[in-house]
Amino acid sequence: MSPPISNHLVRHADVIVIGAGLAGLTVALEVANERKVILLSKGDLNESASAWAQGGIVGVLDQKDSYDSHVRDTLEAGAGIVIESVARLISEKSQQAIQCLLHLGVKFTQDPLGPLGLHLTREGGHTHRRVIHAEDSTGKAIQEVLLAKAKQHCNIQIFEHCVAIDLILHKHLCGQASQDFQTSALNNRCYGVYALNILDHQVISITAQDVVIATGGVGKVYQHSTNPNSSTGDGIAMAWRAGCRVANMEFIQFHPTFLYHPQESGFLITEALRGEGAYLRLPNGHRFMGDHDPRLELAPRDIVTRAIDKEMKRYGLQYVLLDATHLGAEVLKERFPTILKCCLAFGIDMTKEAIPVVPSAHYTCGGVVTNVDGQTDVQHLFSVGESAYTGLHGANRLASNSLLECVVMGKQAAKKILEYPIEASQAQVKLWSDYVVDDDEKLKIALQKADLQTLMWHDVGIVRTTHQLERAHNRIELIKKEFHQFSKIPIDPQWIEFRNLLICAELIVLSALDRKESRGLHYIRDYATIFAQSSPTILKPNCWASIESLDYP
Ligand code: FAD
Ligand code: SIN
Repeated sequence: MSPPISNHLVRHADVIVIGAGLAGLTVALEVANERKVILLSKGDLNESASAWAQGGIVGVLDQKDSYDSHVRDTLEAGAGIVIESVARLISEKSQQAIQCLLHLGVKFTQDPLGPLGLHLTREGGHTHRRVIHAEDSTGKAIQEVLLAKAKQHCNIQIFEHCVAIDLILHKHLCGQASQDFQTSALNNRCYGVYALNILDHQVISITAQDVVIATGGVGKVYQHSTNPNSSTGDGIAMAWRAGCRVANMEFIQFHPTFLYHPQESGFLITEALRGEGAYLRLPNGHRFMGDHDPRLELAPRDIVTRAIDKEMKRYGLQYVLLDATHLGAEVLKERFPTILKCCLAFGIDMTKEAIPVVPSAHYTCGGVVTNVDGQTDVQHLFSVGESAYTGLHGANRLASNSLLECVVMGKQAAKKILEYPIEASQAQVKLWSDYVVDDDEKLKIALQKADLQTLMWHDVGIVRTTHQLERAHNRIELIKKEFHQFSKIPIDPQWIEFRNLLICAELIVLSALDRKESRGLHYIRDYATIFAQSSPTILKPNCWASIESLDYP
């Protein structure tokens, strides 16, 4: 049995930021001079997609480049459903975002001839070199600097290994505060977060004027993913349970090149390697991208991934090969030191041999619907970064636009939060009930999670059919029924994550079933080339009783 929850704690902050990746850290640092912040990180502070980012961050800096060109590439990659005004806003703020990171002390790779003295690389779908990077571990370089700043800031309290369970809503208020807030007609608002400290098994009720969801994506709903373990869609599921709309969940991006190893879990091989000239080959040496797209290895990611998938299925292959040997040992050592080292640890010398690669679930293009200030449908609740749907990515994200979105939208949300004066009154909230989880049930959760991940990989993957999606939906319904039979409402990190994964899986499948066309990342054989539905898929809570039933009383 897990230890019972003891000494329920209550805390207050002006702003709670759930998630310590680039989006969360940006908001926290931007508001901290004027607001007291509690920053939650479910796992180790270094475990986030942000810290793992390799290729880089878009910066429209070069004189030969332009915002128009970046917006065009974003629209093209997004296959017709990018919100152009959002793409333009984010593009036009890219210089400011890069300058802000430089000012904080991030050390990007230099080029004396480059704009701001920075080296620009290229990735799929970009018609210009506009990706700023720190060798091949850009995320680590950014994350370390921002994290160090957050740790030093006297107004930021970091709760590491502390998992947000659910948002505190009007129904969780008690006493006079409940009535005050009721009469002020602010019952569609967020008042804080219930969180579980994983180390001492305490539930903390944290109240705040504003809550920011920055929990990243849901890559871990798939069996094979480039994402860290923390990417279980917690924020998306929490916001959904709180009544927020969620959009475009069918558009899950599969990265084309994840290191294949028959026994070990691999790692991402950055697209920048293809940006610098690496080739994709079949085991017989044939460079196959020319058979699929005139842009060859630098076609947008959905196209490259589907091409690999097709070739693997056609020839019954376990992997294809990414060949960078012709770039030369010197270039590879200087430009891709991390990948070189990681490959060597797997016994692959990429200066002499091609790297075996497979596609893997990478990025959640959809998420919690927000406006350009990060505001959701629930008042005082924001969502930024990969957990949010702003309209920037449409049906497929352009490489390196994600880190840029984290910084720009983090700043936008912070600005909005600072517009409101600090409220005098604090909400009085009900305490979380004391439940425990049985060890036998923990094992069952682990088995069901693996089952769900396999199902999503096979039936809701790179190429889908209506039959597969319907089968996946039926199976998810069954898993949900079994989930309801678990004892009461056990509070345990695995239970919390599994509930969120189940909700996100259902959101992905229902969105995919809703879209009767193939577009961008959503490739469905029944509607192979029809482009009919040129709008986002927006799901509203309450329409989907089956999903809602995963709420607790
Ligand atoms: P994350 O960085 O994932 O951070 C999420 C945070 O939320 C974590 O701190 C986590 O602990 C916390 N969290 C989650 N759930 C809870 C909870 N319930 N309670 C408390 N805390 C919680 N994009 C680019 O633009 N360029 C790249 O080069 C690039 N390379 C990538 C390489 C890899 C291997 C991966 C996986 C992604 C890459 N991406 C890249 C995508 C990009 O890194 C992410 O989209 C982006 O970093 C997301 O940032 P975020 O702050 O929204 O979320
Ligand atoms: C990569 O380095 O290939 C990942 C870039 C991205 O996801 O934007």
